[in-house]
Amino acid sequence: MSLLSAKGVVKRYGGLTAVDKVSFDVTKGELVGLIGPNGSGKTTLLNMLSGHVAPDAGEIALDGKPCQGLKPEQLAHLGVMRMFQLTRVFRRMNVVDNLLVAGRALGLDAKAALAQADSLVDELRLGHVRHLDAGQLSGGQMKLLEFGVCFMVPPKLALLDEPFAAVHPIMKEIMSGFIRSRHASGQTFILVSHDMPVVVELCPRSICMNAGAIIADAPTREVLSNERVIEAYLGGHAA
Ligand SMILES: Nc1ncnc2c1ncn2[C@@H]1O[C@H](COP(=O)(O)OP(=O)(O)OP(=O)(O)O)[C@@H](O)[C@H]1O
Ligand SMILES: [Mg+2]
Repeated sequence: MSLLSAKGVVKRYGGLTAVDKVSFDVTKGELVGLIGPNGSGKTTLLNMLSGHVAPDAGEIALDGKPCQGLKPEQLAHLGVMRMFQLTRVFRRMNVVDNLLVAGRALGLDAKAALAQADSLVDELRLGHVRHLDAGQLSGGQMKLLEFGVCFMVPPKLALLDEPFAAVHPIMKEIMSGFIRSRHASGQTFILVSHDMPVVVELCPRSICMNAGAIIADAPTREVLSNERVIEAYLGGHAA
């Protein structure tokens, strides 16, 4: 059975169909790239999977159980965690407290939360800034902290929206190493990125959206050489 199944999912904003009858399945342990030009509907699709936006039509199921329209907190408890294109952390709280708040909210006791926070701080190389307020971190460190928040209780499904955008190459390497090692131990991801070399390196399979619809869903290299995909990135006016 699929871990995640989307069938005919639609989201409209006035006259614009941001996501247009999207259907796909994700099996436990997959790391799926979600690519497509700006405005093609990637973030809107993640918003529906994480409960931040309710679909206008279609069905989303997690472990075979319908979950469309549930709130983000409900989906978090079911194991769907989300990273945002614009980083969301508590800026006036220090790094460790950000992690502890997330862990306690998801049911860890104080001791387990502290142990998990310590281990993530090490893994994400945030040890030297652990007592700084999140607002004092660099953009890349804030993203690393957001990874930590997502993984205080390892989710069934992690949704990452452009984690590598505008971060220092060293941070990018830490993030991709984190994703690679978690994937190797069975973590399921959907990764939105415009960074094709990283998508090729990390994601065995990719889905490409254009104008709200899926135009390719196949092994990543096949998707990137697909004519419709190339045309979509060139703006549909390829010679
Ligand atoms: N809250 C909203 N209200 C109105 N239109 C919206 C809203 N959110 C998204 N859209 C529109 O829906 C379309 C899809 O946007 P979305 O943010 O999902 O694209 P994206 O693929 O994530 O783009 P990018 O690569 O630039 O992040 C765009 O035309 C966008 O302007
Ligand atoms: Mg987006």
